[in-house]
Amino acid sequence: MSRDALFGAENAPSIQRCESCGAEWPFTLTANSCPTCDGLLEVIHPHPTLHGAALLSRFGSRCCTHQGSEASGVWRFRELVMPGEGAVVSHPEGNTPLMHRASIAEYAGVASLMLKHEGRNPTGSFKDRGMTAAVTHAVRTGATAVACASTGNTSASLAAYAAQAGLPALVFMPEGKVALGKIAQALAYGARTLIVKGDFDDCLRLARESSRELGVYLANSINPWRVEGQKTIVFEMLQQLGWQAPDWIVLPAGNLGNTSAFGKALRELHALGLITKMPRVLSVQAMGAAPFAHAFETGFTTHVPVRAATVATAIRIGDPASWDRAVRVIRETNGAVLAVNDDAILDAKAVIDAAGVGCEPASAASVAGVRAARASGLIGANDSVVAVLTGHVLKDPELVVQYHEQMRPVPPRANTPIPIDATVAAVARVLQRP
Ligand code: F0G
Repeated sequence: MSRDALFGAENAPSIQRCESCGAEWPFTLTANSCPTCDGLLEVIHPHPTLHGAALLSRFGSRCCTHQGSEASGVWRFRELVMPGEGAVVSHPEGNTPLMHRASIAEYAGVASLMLKHEGRNPTGSFKDRGMTAAVTHAVRTGATAVACASTGNTSASLAAYAAQAGLPALVFMPEGKVALGKIAQALAYGARTLIVKGDFDDCLRLARESSRELGVYLANSINPWRVEGQKTIVFEMLQQLGWQAPDWIVLPAGNLGNTSAFGKALRELHALGLITKMPRVLSVQAMGAAPFAHAFETGFTTHVPVRAATVATAIRIGDPASWDRAVRVIRETNGAVLAVNDDAILDAKAVIDAAGVGCEPASAASVAGVRAARASGLIGANDSVVAVLTGHVLKDPELVVQYHEQMRPVPPRANTPIPIDATVAAVARVLQRP
């Protein structure tokens, strides 16, 4: 695709274009879908005035800034996120570490495995990167209230950014299927927390209908500005790698918003000539919530929603909203999709946690996916791989305690608590254990 097709004419404002019928809409449109045909919208930016190395060096010069919006790992890349004047609603977010841990690399079977830890964002997940962009767009377009459906992290993030912007927030979450830390955040940050009798897919339908009928700004991942913000996970990762793309980027997949954002980021960087090699994107689903992985096996000739079930509640989604966008990403990057079962997710999580890194269950699907893809030969032993950890270990404390204390049979990596008498002799006996 040519740069003009992607970015429009020099100095034009960002526009929103329908991915289905091609209709173009102004920045100020707040519908999440095309008013003509209901297709999903994508954002098209004007050409940045700087090109190539000069643009990269501008991004680089903003690293380590401590004041203003450029202190954010999202707004540092604003030419490719939301150019133009205006205040931003920023924590700041991003600036997350890219880490290597020998024990995790060895477990996955890939020596050069790096981990991009998005759980180190202000509300503990990658959602903050999309939310700073969406809530900024909501404010700039005069929204009076914001809403989202969520398996938990999106709600936590929206609640925090809406609080900062002074906007009322409505969050829709499935009853009994949201991790404790996430509900706690939505309540603490003051969102109107709606516990819906239904699953995530019901929540999303209800949020979309309510937004349409009540005029509330919808901040789900189909919101095109969320995609713009989430692209910066890839921008920042590549900046940390000196703009040398790895062979693979691996991420957990639920609603497929992040898979879509990663693909758009790579497509744009490639079109701008900022990377020459296209990394392959590997999206990993939980086996009980894997409609996209099943479709991949048939070359995407099928599209069958499922009733989702997995311990990784963040990705407990049976009918992903950003399906077509994600299909395009897997095709364009010569990527792949696979599913890992809950035991593999919990085992990988225990390894990540025991390395002192920690992540929430859904995040561990990425490392479990690398391990599975290495075992099947899809990923080579010498391939360079970045796996994204999407959420913080404290998001789901209940599952951590269950795993280490209550699960039967006792999982192989359980770190069972040790009851002792209140004596130094008892402590000494514990120290002597292997
Ligand atoms: N990892 C975590 C920790 C998540 O919270 C999510 C999605 C994903 C991975 C999957 O990303 O949906 O873009 O494919 N959480 C959403 C939420 C659905 O409502 O918080 P995706």
